[in-house]
Amino acid sequence: MTESGRLLHVIVCAAGAARDVGRLVALAQEEGWIVQVVATPSALDFVDVPALERRTGRPVRSRYRRPDEPKPPRADAIIVAPATYNTVNKFAQGIADTYALGLLAEAPGLGIPVVVLPFVNEALAARTPFRRSVESLRAEGVRVLPSPSGSDPADTEDGGRGDHPWALALKELPRKALKEPSGEEGTGSPDGR
Ligand SMILES: Cc1cc2nc3c(=O)[nH]c(=O)nc-3n(C[C@H](O)[C@H](O)[C@H](O)COP(=O)(O)O)c2cc1C
Repeated sequence: MTESGRLLHVIVCAAGAARDVGRLVALAQEEGWIVQVVATPSALDFVDVPALERRTGRPVRSRYRRPDEPKPPRADAIIVAPATYNTVNKFAQGIADTYALGLLAEAPGLGIPVVVLPFVNEALAARTPFRRSVESLRAEGVRVLPSPSGSDPADTEDGGRGDHPWALALKELPRKALKEPSGEEGTGSPDGR
């Protein structure tokens, strides 16, 4: 069966909240998105890969494709949730040493809307490098949300298990990202490698 619709990449990092990323996937699907989950290599230990693959009908991707593998389609929008301290800082610095970061490295240049939902504790959120990263990503047009209250998902009102922060991330995507006709498949790196 051919899928039609807009493609949302949900990039999931190695934070405790990753166990509930299926909620974000479900909410996005309810809005009409086709969802591709991309996990950082470390995040693979935090998520239920078979459950996410059943839900999306797509393999969870976590590594760059081999040169002889087909080029995956380009995303129409990207949500990074939960975004770790590590990945937020690397994204801001332009580092592309995971497939997830490779996608993020290109996104602003391609005009792909990116929403970042960090889950970092207060100690990390207060660090100068993190604050600079957030500032620098925002200056490039990346929408960086505040880390959920209490900074640790376990401290949020619903223990981090409800839809609240996930729904906020989805709401932050520009509406036109879902409605405009889809572009061509990606041509450059990382998918074009
Ligand atoms: C149980 C556990 C929970 C973690 N939760 C977080 C978190 O909420 N936020 C965060 O920034 N790092 C968290 N970390 C640390 C990250 O996993 C670590 O920095 C890792 O290198 C991030 O890799 P990634 O950014 O490639 O996903 C956690 C680590 C463990 C073991």
